[in-house]
Amino acid sequence: MEYVNPEGDSRYREQMNALLREAWGDVNVVAHGEWFDLTACDMFLCVDFGEVIGAVHFIVTGNDAEILSLLSRREHAGIGRALMRLAADACRARGMRCLRVVTTNDNARAFRFYQRFGMELETVRLRQVDVSRRMKPLIPLTGCDGIPIRDELQLVLKL
Ligand SMILES: CC(C)(COP(=O)(O)OP(=O)(O)OC[C@H]1O[C@@H](n2cnc3c(N)ncnc32)[C@H](O)[C@@H]1OP(=O)(O)O)[C@@H](O)C(=O)NCCC(=O)NCCS
Repeated sequence: MEYVNPEGDSRYREQMNALLREAWGDVNVVAHGEWFDLTACDMFLCVDFGEVIGAVHFIVTGNDAEILSLLSRREHAGIGRALMRLAADACRARGMRCLRVVTTNDNARAFRFYQRFGMELETVRLRQVDVSRRMKPLIPLTGCDGIPIRDELQLVLKL
């Protein structure tokens, strides 16, 4: 298993896009009312014998950075944490002060995972996913454990 920065390397593009579509319905995501093209973001991939089994996508803007997608296809093996560490280290090396992430109210696992990583809840945007869904109708009405997806939870890590 290896962690790669695929910049300038198209080998994993199709697999990565398939992983993103499987998770988010599309390679574009909406957060806090904005569209993001994940294929144009900074990223790290976890690759096992040529198979992409994890990915983190993030952007840097000004002095702050934001994780826009984190996916692990082999859960509880440390992949999520390793990808977060790579992204945080890369952002720190580029002088960023904060790393943010947005998850949704249904995703208790992600909320727990990010707090275990050291992130703190910063903002709750009630009913923000209703806005996102108007922009991207592919967003399902219910998410983890059948819970209605309604609110955005934003967490922050001081770098
Ligand atoms: C959230 C997500 C990225 C976590 O990925 P992951 O690869 O399972 O993360 P890790 O393996 O690093 O950590 C998960 C747990 O496994 C544990 N773990 C890590 N290595 C382990 C090992 N070798 N053996 C047993 N447990 C292990 C970690 O300690 C952690 O446990 P904790 O929750 O009690 O702290 C993953 O569940 C996922 O892809 N979810 C769907 C998409 C999503 O919701 N993304 C986030 C919103 S953007």
